[in-house]
Amino acid sequence: MSKLKILFASSEMAPWVKTGGLGDVSAALPAALRQAGQDIRVLLPHYPALQAAFPDARPLAELPALAPALPPARLLTAEADGLPLLLLDCPPLYANPGNPYLDSYGDDRHDNPVRFGLLSRVAALLGQERSPIGWQADVVHSNDWQTALAAAYLHYQGGAASVATVHNIAFQGCFAHAYLADLGLPEHAWRFDAAEYHGQLCFLKAGLQFASQISTVSPTYAREIQDEQFGYGLAPLLRYRAAALHGILNGIDTDIWNPATDPNLAHPYSSQQLAGKARNKAALQQAMGLEVSATQPLFGVVSRLTHQKGLDLLLAIADDLAALPAQLVVLGSGDAELEAGFAALADRHPRRIAVKLGFDEALAHRIEAGADSFLMPSRFEPCGLNQMYSLHYGTPPVVTATGGLADTVVDVGEASLVSRTANGFLLESATAPALWSAMQRVCRTWRDRQLWQRIQQNGMQQDFSWKHAAHEYIALYRQAIAAPRATTG
Ligand code: ADP
Ligand code: GLC
Repeated sequence: MSKLKILFASSEMAPWVKTGGLGDVSAALPAALRQAGQDIRVLLPHYPALQAAFPDARPLAELPALAPALPPARLLTAEADGLPLLLLDCPPLYANPGNPYLDSYGDDRHDNPVRFGLLSRVAALLGQERSPIGWQADVVHSNDWQTALAAAYLHYQGGAASVATVHNIAFQGCFAHAYLADLGLPEHAWRFDAAEYHGQLCFLKAGLQFASQISTVSPTYAREIQDEQFGYGLAPLLRYRAAALHGILNGIDTDIWNPATDPNLAHPYSSQQLAGKARNKAALQQAMGLEVSATQPLFGVVSRLTHQKGLDLLLAIADDLAALPAQLVVLGSGDAELEAGFAALADRHPRRIAVKLGFDEALAHRIEAGADSFLMPSRFEPCGLNQMYSLHYGTPPVVTATGGLADTVVDVGEASLVSRTANGFLLESATAPALWSAMQRVCRTWRDRQLWQRIQQNGMQQDFSWKHAAHEYIALYRQAIAAPRATTG
């Protein structure tokens, strides 16, 4: 079959710009699509981290002001391990260092509608006949609200097919009405069945309304977001578009996340050679100031500290960890209240609980390797990558049965042990008592060394590579391209 021309638009790309799983996916999925023989290019804002990573990026095209509020910009090109990047250069919008969405006070950047309006507009442009780079995408793939408006531009102005992927429906990108005209969308887009949402211009809603096809990052989340409880107001629209909505489970980059070759680990190991894991545990305990002990399980957490992740439930019970007995290591950053709660917890239990606030890629790898079990009591989880990293690292996860967690973790039980699918522990609900009883179950199971090793090996031998997902996305792109496109001008 012929190669597809795919424009993958994103606001993050690991390892350079990453606030969570979107960064990981935006690096690994395009690479897998390229590996599968597609002509894929990745559009990203030219953030300082990318300027530093690609000092030799070449200018490709000058872009005029594309709408009243959108300043002129340029496109540069670079290659990341053979993957073509298109860097949208506009220093007044993207040259600030730090978090890609927040200012130095932790507030949303005031010019986000313009920053991501421009990114979406340029994504659409690269799928239109007047694409300035001598290459026109067949399909424009947007990711989350930051690029979702591309589908609306393509709908009103014509051009490529579009696929909108929802990585997290809780973030929607809603701004004042005035931005509609400022960003170059027609006034008749101000309708409940177009870009208007509760009196605001909503990037994500517009994308879901107009994308040729919609995907989200796990089959269970694709069902859940059609329910009021998970849809954050967009469930009716998703039910309306159910025929175009697909759940494609994320993969993991097994070149970066592989315990046998991970350069962050002092002691490599594999499912057949698990001995190194205990040495990584001791090294982690030592480095984090915990008692170096092999006789109690060590629970690990690596997470954004937000309501979504349910770590307030852990805070509510962690003072009792000695009763299990168990240890805990937490790496995270986010809500000030949760950060303060975890810091105080560690102060109260210095040899049993260690907390590092901040973002630390190397430590994240060491926790995945050194912990015995990984905690992820999320209230909702579109896919979740950390439980897959844990499974791959022989660190059976404790998760809520929601979204991608439900699609990847099989609870330890009689039948699942016989079928060799048992790989972790499911909470009955996202509550503190349910978490506590799952952690008790982990501790009991962990003491049976042989049983524990079987559970570890079940997870480690699963295939989480991106290959399958890449083929599902290719099929989805073809479906998007084949669908008739109504353009209302
Ligand atoms: P989400 O995208 O909702 O945050 P995921 O599980 O999909 O959740 O992905 C989170 C990614 O971010 C993982 O790669 C995880 O290791 C990483 N991560 C989260 N918090 C931190 C942190 N404080 N330090 C290092 N890595 C982190
Ligand atoms: C979001 C979700 C997470 C998912 C990631 C990558 O940040 O919260 O569950 O794994 O996107 O798709």
